[in-house]
Parts: sequence; C-alpha cells; structure tokens
Amino acid sequence: MAKIIDGKVISAQIRKEVKHEAETLAARGIRACLAVVQVGDDPASSVYVRNKHRACAACGIKSLEFHLSGNSSQEELLSKIRALNAQEDVDGILVQLPLPKQIDTDRIMSAIDPAKDVDGFLPENLGRLVIGQEGFLPCTPAGILELLKRSRISVDGKDCLVLGRSNIVGKPVALLMLREHATVTIAHSHTANLSELMRRADIIIAAVGRADFVKSTDVKEGAVVIDVGINRMEDGSLHGDVDFADVFDRVSAITPVPGGVGPMTIAMLMKNCIRAACARRN
Ligand code: GUN
Repeated sequence: MAKIIDGKVISAQIRKEVKHEAETLAARGIRACLAVVQVGDDPASSVYVRNKHRACAACGIKSLEFHLSGNSSQEELLSKIRALNAQEDVDGILVQLPLPKQIDTDRIMSAIDPAKDVDGFLPENLGRLVIGQEGFLPCTPAGILELLKRSRISVDGKDCLVLGRSNIVGKPVALLMLREHATVTIAHSHTANLSELMRRADIIIAAVGRADFVKSTDVKEGAVVIDVGINRMEDGSLHGDVDFADVFDRVSAITPVPGGVGPMTIAMLMKNCIRAACARRN
C-alpha cells in the first residue's frame, strides 16, 4: 500500500513555522511585506492572487495589492515595478503571470530586483541554483523537495526522472534533485525511450500537463511519484498527470491531486517572503 504524501498537512506545518518567524520579526519592529501586481482580470489569476493575499494575512505578512488595467502599457508596468524596487518596506514583488499580450513578460520580470524575487523566476536566482549558490528557489520545485524531506524520502543516489522541461517546474526541480545528489533525467515531448526511462526511475516527478499520463505499467514497483499536474476535466474534477487509482498499489509513496504539490506552492512563497525580509533588513 502506498503512503499518501499529504500536501495539506505539510503546507499547514510550514505556514505555522512562517507565522512564528513573522512574529519574531515583528517583535523587532519588522513587518515582512509582499507586493502582488495583477494586470487585467483573468479569472484564474484573480483566484491565485486572492489566495496569496489570504495566505499572507494568515501568516502575519503584510500584502499590498496593485491591480492594473488589462490595457496597461509596458512602461506603466515597468514604472510600477521600479517604484516597488525602491520602496524600502516592500520585501517581495510578485507579478502574476500570464501578462496581457502587449507586454513583454521577460522584460517585466527582469526589471524586478533579484533580492525581492520571491517567485524565484529571475535568471539571477535560477543561475544561482545552477552553480550551487544560495538564492530564492522557485516555489513549486522548493515545495516538492520539502514534501520529500518531510516524508523522510531520501533523494541521494536515486534515479530521478522529471517529466517536463518548463522554466518554472521541470528545469529547476531537476537542478534541485541534482543538488540533493539524485541521478537526474529530464524527459520531454521529444524523448524517444520514455517508457524505459519511467520504468527505471526510483522517483518520478510528473509536470507535463496531460491528465492521467503516467499509468501503472510505466512505473517501477516501489517508486515514489510526485504529481505536479492540475488538469481540469470536462466533469469539473481535477486530475493530475498521474493516474492515481491505477498506480496506487504499485508505488511506495505518491502525492494526490488535489492536496499534494498544489498547497505547497503558496506555503513556499510565504517562506521566501520571510527570507527576503530577513536578508534585506538585517
Ligand atoms: N501564475 C501561475 N502561477 C504563478 C506563480 O507561481 N507566480 C506567478 N508570478 N504567476 C503565476
């Protein structure tokens, strides 16, 4: 029987720790502060942004909301970011993605001060991960590592297969697993021998965005499976990239969807905000 890695329980524990750290900072007169910038009214983005403000409030982190019109120009958004970079009491800046088409996302993101990049999306922070220096880790990959650590699943020496090569999840999680001494393979849509790679892996991290893509015949007996997928089905239900019911009896541990990796992302964002506040104000 597989162990279910419970992201709700682990993320709640992390939030509790963050709250305690926020209180310790507050006792020194420092209120950690996250600025969240949303451009336009994408409904999914509005839900994510609301959840980030709620998490901040629950953890004792101040959050500032900047909601720009969907017609905003690149220059308007850049000047908002420059102002937030210069604002002493702002520790973290998060520009909610995706941005409207008229805006060059790379230019906007690279305008953020790397010391305030609590998303861990900037080349400065990803580059630090590549060369093994301390920096902000992207929240979902950091959350995956935390799930493994707190479930006492060692990565050292394991054969780890990452499905997907996005800049936000696939590439950084592969680098994190490498940092933790796993032997890492990244598979993607052009990978030739995918079935073979999957059956060999001790740990599979699935981030391909295809519902129920990983089946029991793909996984090794006793493998650990981390499911990053969030696929909305026609009936409204959420499915991961892994066919949970199908693989359950074959694996040793697995994250459910929902309630696995998902809740970890915001918890790690809160952790990054505290870290930014400590680093900037010491
Ligand atoms: N859009 C969806 N997820 C995220 C996230 O984690 N950070 C930002 N900035 N935008 C997102």
